[in-house]
Amino acid sequence: MTKRFLLMAMAACAALALSAKDILVNTPNTSLLLKAEENQPLHISYYGERISDIGQVYYAYSLWDQAYPAFSGGGSNSHALSVKHWDGNMSTELVYIGDTQQSEANSTLYVISMKDKAYDLMVDVCYRAYNNSDVIETWSVIRNQEKKPVTLTKYASGFLPLRRGNAWVTHQHGTWAAEAYVSEEPLQDGIFEVREANGARNAFSSRANIMVSLDGKPRENEGRVVGAVLCWSGPYRFSIDTPDQKVHHLTAGINEVNAAYTLKKGESLTTPPLALAYSAEGMGGVSRSYHRWARLNNKVHNGTALRKILLNSWEGVYFDVSQDGMEKMMDGISDLGGELFVMDDGWFGSKYRRTRDNCALGDWVTDTVKLPRGIPALEKAAADRGLKWGIWIEPEMTNTKSELYEKHPDWIVCHPNRKPVTGRGGTQLILDMSNPEVQDFVFNVVDGLMKETPNTYYMKWDANFDIANFGSHYLTADNQSHLYVAYHLGLQKALERIRAKYPDLVLQCCASGGGRVNYGLMPYFDEFWVSDNTDAQQRLFIQWGTSMFFPACAMAQHVSASPNHQTGRVIPLKFRFDVAMTGRLGMEMKPGDLTEKEQAYAKMAVQTYKEIRPIIQQGNQYRILSPYDKTGYASEMYITDDKSDAVFFAYKFEHYANMFRPRFHFAGLDPDATYRLTELCRNGNPDHWEGHTFTGRFLMQQGVEIALGGQFASKVIRLTRQ
Ligand code: DGJ
Repeated sequence: MTKRFLLMAMAACAALALSAKDILVNTPNTSLLLKAEENQPLHISYYGERISDIGQVYYAYSLWDQAYPAFSGGGSNSHALSVKHWDGNMSTELVYIGDTQQSEANSTLYVISMKDKAYDLMVDVCYRAYNNSDVIETWSVIRNQEKKPVTLTKYASGFLPLRRGNAWVTHQHGTWAAEAYVSEEPLQDGIFEVREANGARNAFSSRANIMVSLDGKPRENEGRVVGAVLCWSGPYRFSIDTPDQKVHHLTAGINEVNAAYTLKKGESLTTPPLALAYSAEGMGGVSRSYHRWARLNNKVHNGTALRKILLNSWEGVYFDVSQDGMEKMMDGISDLGGELFVMDDGWFGSKYRRTRDNCALGDWVTDTVKLPRGIPALEKAAADRGLKWGIWIEPEMTNTKSELYEKHPDWIVCHPNRKPVTGRGGTQLILDMSNPEVQDFVFNVVDGLMKETPNTYYMKWDANFDIANFGSHYLTADNQSHLYVAYHLGLQKALERIRAKYPDLVLQCCASGGGRVNYGLMPYFDEFWVSDNTDAQQRLFIQWGTSMFFPACAMAQHVSASPNHQTGRVIPLKFRFDVAMTGRLGMEMKPGDLTEKEQAYAKMAVQTYKEIRPIIQQGNQYRILSPYDKTGYASEMYITDDKSDAVFFAYKFEHYANMFRPRFHFAGLDPDATYRLTELCRNGNPDHWEGHTFTGRFLMQQGVEIALGGQFASKVIRLTRQ
């Protein structure tokens, strides 16, 4: 573009700014600017730091892209929408026809109505801007008012242009026991993509969340960063197309591959929200926005409630549950000061008894051989010890060896013409949540248990299989491609019913560990199981990645046995506690296996956690030294909103001679305030700073030395404003 042409274009844009309607979508610290003009496509020209003077955006001239581009030919790889109209026409031309703004409790909803120029296809492009956190959700509502059915071959939730520069994308990949590993790469020419097609456990490998750092290599607490999170539990697709030297185009939504969606006349589809966040305080700033948004707006169920300390029976006894064994574990956790006991897998089955993982899912009756006195006796045993009671279920699943499958072979996800491929135990199958009968069944699993043991406080909802047999007995032949969407809408329906009846039941979202860590499900779940890997060293990496998008109150982190069952690694109890304490603390072992000295330590650590729990679960997280930086150290901290109380965690997880020793810097403090440093859960000599006071500025700029001896040394430091 020549300089003269650029000046003309700027002048044209400035003129447009005066004649057309600007829609400024604001959160407390961010703005997104749209331009709506009758019979024209909706445009987006800015997303970043909050602005009030719109003119400067147009005079600066940076971005000018369609806000929700639809396919109609041309060379672009980035369409949010692709429609085959009733007459076979594949092109869509959306133009603005009106808009509304509506105030809600913690947000403002902007609905911009669009219509195809020649067809009665209506699309509402929606933005919800929060006033209690810097998050803007965007989604679309697509309505078919054409003569006959239309087919959506792409139906993304949102589109966002980003000015090209030295931009890097941060995304997460993993697998069982190694979830949410962080990857960073510069955005270059062509297409970057993260997509998932597992069907049921959409966070099992990659995650529906990315960040784009606009000012070079991603940094935790500096630089401009945009985050994008899809609030959906099914297959998804994020793509960033870099077509030229000027712009990156981010498109994100449901993965449309094998999921063409037909709308009959009069039908509509609402796409799941894409939650956008912007911060000039690095990735940590974006994380804090997501944490706050999740806690304050029920994006994690009951997000402002403090979570209880629990013992889960899985790694302690696996399938070998018994009244006596459970009571021993209850004694153990109650002696340590825990508050909740959860019986994991292995408690159910009649004709087929759940003695291992190959049968009985769906047969939610107590195995009276293992538990002759039934679940109510266990609930009572917990109550007698002052503990709340919790239980494990996997309601969307069955096994070929189950009474449920014998009775309802057509309830599984599988095409009637196919022999089902099985999963776990060689027998596991997944139920078809698109089927309303199955939705009722799933509701009744929870409702039935609640009727039998009304004081149940907690349920761990597991899901250990995928949509491996694509096809549905329930969906009609021409709607088979709806399965991925219909499954998750059906699951949501069942969860809505459960939540309507049991709003206070604490639900954990588990899927072979962190296989379902997504904001599609978290509005129904209080927490999620971060990973089946409880090795404290590897947890540093998994938890670090997970915390980039999810708040500490939702992250279930358990202290388990040593040697660790997944890795065989031997790690001291203090380090295991110090790592588990940065989320919702729990235990996953037989407490009776701890030595007396360890039990005394555990008791003290549990008591300490209770004192700092509000700071961790409801505070603002600052990740500081990343374990991914390969120094062998990691550090992070949590601080209250008023910056008066903070907890800092320092870890050393590798050790070699003449090892690099970092200076530990703090973050998020009030620079002008004075803080006293006290070590918590200390098991050695006091450090040189113990009990001394420092200004926030000094702690953030100069930092302190922290004596960390050999491998698996860690310290927890409380900072109290004086
Ligand atoms: C997978 C979960 O991730 C584990 O925590 C445990 O509940 C098992 N399933 C039980 O089968």
